[in-house]
Amino acid sequence: MNLAAPHPFSFILFGASGNLAKLKLYPALYVLALKNRLPASYSIIGYARTEMTDESFRRFIEESIRSDMIEVNEKILKDFLSHVQYQQGQYDDVEDFKKLRKKLDDTSVRLAYLSIPPQSYTTVIENLNRAKVHEGGGAFRCIVEKPVGHDLKSFEEIHSTLLKSFKEEEIYLLDHYLGKEAFRNIYYLRFANPILERLFKNTLIHHVEISASESLGLEGRAGYFENTGTLRDMFQSHLLLMTALLTMRLRENEEGLRESRLNALEQIYLPPAPNLNDIVLQGQYTSGKIGREHVVGYSEEQDIEDHSRTNTFIALQLLTRISRWEGVPFYLKSGKRLDKKETRISFQFQEPHSIGKGSTPNRLDIILQGEAGMKVYLQTKVGGTEPEFRPLIMEDPLVCHGDCLPEHALLLLEAIHGKQEWFVSFPEVRAAWRLIDPLQSHLEKPDTPLYPYGAGSTGPKEMEGWIKKEGAGWF
Ligand code: BG6
Repeated sequence: MNLAAPHPFSFILFGASGNLAKLKLYPALYVLALKNRLPASYSIIGYARTEMTDESFRRFIEESIRSDMIEVNEKILKDFLSHVQYQQGQYDDVEDFKKLRKKLDDTSVRLAYLSIPPQSYTTVIENLNRAKVHEGGGAFRCIVEKPVGHDLKSFEEIHSTLLKSFKEEEIYLLDHYLGKEAFRNIYYLRFANPILERLFKNTLIHHVEISASESLGLEGRAGYFENTGTLRDMFQSHLLLMTALLTMRLRENEEGLRESRLNALEQIYLPPAPNLNDIVLQGQYTSGKIGREHVVGYSEEQDIEDHSRTNTFIALQLLTRISRWEGVPFYLKSGKRLDKKETRISFQFQEPHSIGKGSTPNRLDIILQGEAGMKVYLQTKVGGTEPEFRPLIMEDPLVCHGDCLPEHALLLLEAIHGKQEWFVSFPEVRAAWRLIDPLQSHLEKPDTPLYPYGAGSTGPKEMEGWIKKEGAGWF
């Protein structure tokens, strides 16, 4: 089914001049226009502190779309831009929100999208409410980007402010990984391939590696990242949700999806260890080369403190109480300024039968980003009297066939439709912070090591010994 916006809507974007809006949201909205998924009547209203007119804001959006697309359809772009307006305003001034309110018509669905630092959430939510931006139109949706909060405590504050201002069904917590076709495929692959379900159990699987490498650095988001770090930025939502999708119990209908994910998140735990350094390792990039480009180290980046201890790389070990996975270690790692962009789940199977000893254990890779595909590593005997083996790799690229939309485009359409399954629920966010908080406090202690790694490398060299101690190895 090709999902389209069925009725007029007003999309209000807080943080309209920011990086996320520029890199992801405007191109996503344009793709919806290009693919004919938008109704005849809609408006996009940017709200930010930066001084801009409607005209200069349209130029800003146009540039963001042109730099993202190989080619644009001029007619569609022109029409799309005619739906765009700008409201300059402060986040803490209710009068500015009242001016915004006047720009909204009374019939459409209203979506307020918070693409702003988590510290500003509470103020914006309260002012949306005071200025009654959510009242007087059609349905209302408040879309909040991850990470929701900075820790469990600030999450609870945002949670209660949101619930004081809006109804629970009006709130959409967005993790863009849940809008990626490849990411959702983790769930559908399990339904469509009973063979995989049979393999996914502790008697067959030795360990699982989930790895999200990025070659990009801060991309103009130093202020946000310096206060966040990789553990909160990538693990609190994307990597934990990936683990949940993989380990959760499958249900017959999508309505139970959030509950299953929640249950899986609640079953994840930190392995008992005498020292948290045995289960979490942090790093920070130094200068180096990525491809041909020489890049500076994290602490030399603009707007970053000279002696910053913010982590840009994390490796973490987790376990789950879900019975079929009991005892299988999950090794998660993610970092910025690494050698390549790749998101991958690798399953290493148990050691082969004694006759096959000496061959490499079987492995299954699901590569979600980068050279996306699935690879099965089998072993085949080479000719001769001795049982010697060589790897046989079967692979197929996982390309999206059919109705492929950018992640934010798909999620926005679902929000307009009122579909919440692929948005995160409050209890899911809470469960994730419960896991992250003790780790974050540990990493912030001055005596917890922060290992340097060169930009363009695969991460700190210490991560090799760290995982070997556990009898495993990174792929
Ligand atoms: C975002 C993080 O949620 O995800 C960024 O805030 C990160 O720091 C990005 O770069 C990665 O997303 P993607 O879609 O490029 O894998």
